[in-house]
Amino acid sequence: MRVIRAELRAFRNYASVTFEPDAGITVLCGRNAQGKTNLLEAVVLCSVGQSHRTNHDRELIHWDAPRASVSLETERRDGTHDVKIILNRGGGMRVKQVLIGASPALRIGELMGHVPSVLFSPEDLSLVKEGPGERRRFMDMALSQLRPQYFYSLQQYSRALKQRNGLLRALSVSSATASEAASQLEPWDEILSQTGALIIRHRVWFLDRLVRDARDAHAHLSGSNETLAARFICPFDKEDDVVRALLEALRNERARDLTSRGTNTGPHRDDFELTLNGKPARVYGSQGQQRTAALALKLAAFATIRDELDDSPVLLLDDVMSELDAERRCRLLSWTPGVQMIITCTDESDLAGAAVGKMYMVDNGTIV
Ligand SMILES: Nc1ncnc2c1ncn2[C@@H]1O[C@H](COP(=O)(O)OP(=O)(O)OP(=O)(O)O)[C@@H](O)[C@H]1O
Ligand SMILES: [Mg+2]
Repeated sequence: MRVIRAELRAFRNYASVTFEPDAGITVLCGRNAQGKTNLLEAVVLCSVGQSHRTNHDRELIHWDAPRASVSLETERRDGTHDVKIILNRGGGMRVKQVLIGASPALRIGELMGHVPSVLFSPEDLSLVKEGPGERRRFMDMALSQLRPQYFYSLQQYSRALKQRNGLLRALSVSSATASEAASQLEPWDEILSQTGALIIRHRVWFLDRLVRDARDAHAHLSGSNETLAARFICPFDKEDDVVRALLEALRNERARDLTSRGTNTGPHRDDFELTLNGKPARVYGSQGQQRTAALALKLAAFATIRDELDDSPVLLLDDVMSELDAERRCRLLSWTPGVQMIITCTDESDLAGAAVGKMYMVDNGTIV
């Protein structure tokens, strides 16, 4: 897949812009706060239906406008495709409308897989350094693009989890007996175990695949013999019948959940541990090692999506060149030839020697 054209209207700091990236490497160069990341964000929005920077869609609309839109034209093996997202500030309209071709999508999930993308930005260091939330989000972003069913289960799971936690809070201050509490919690536990099991099974599969690609990408980037590995941390990953195991765990934990007023077990607690030569990268990795590990994970997600969809995603690299030494920069750009990449930088010299197809200067919401 490749992006042929992106049209932004009243999106972030762009009033109106048309952007036509190269089939190979496109560079967006400009000073800070000019709109480079905003352009990548527009592509991400059309790819997964939401920004990578905010959960509040209205923030994406230009301050002075009632509505924003991003249209993307892509080319795939079977021809050209159009995706359009309209964001409305208010006035009784739905905030987000999605059009695939000329037809309105009824659910955001229908968008998944139309514009496959993988973004890497400096904040992705948090994949290695920070808590498990970032790593779950990483798995969710990749898996949702691969399997719409995963995305729908995730939505159902988080809705049910919210309901169950609300119920736990209400029950903890009520005079309900243990058996009354159990019968009220039971329907939610059933939904959580059904949808949660599907999430866990997909994550097991994904990490298993990812590890192989991450090891290769890491070896390529670092040119070293260090071995990057990832180990899924989930109490149910070895179970044959995950639905039953999860349901039993939810039932067994009810008393504790009522005391802590929250759900203590399930895929919303999953994590994976990254190791370099068997040592936790989060604890022992140097800054450079952690950054390379995070980048290797993203490249592995790229390879997994490409192989599964049998179609290459667009690779979006936000401000990563300045963070890598010259050798790693070179290795990154040579990682998979022929891939469409959109790269932002503040200094042209960061891309010296790269086979750049197109270079845009980004200046205060305009591109030249
Ligand atoms: N909703 C909005 N309406 C108008 N302008 C906005 C909106 N949201 C953000 N901006 C502006 O967009 C600019 C930031 O754009 P962006 O994050 O793309 O910068 P950048 O070029 O990537 O900079 P850096 O090199 O610092 O990462 C800021 O000037 C910000 O004020
Ligand atoms: Mg930026």
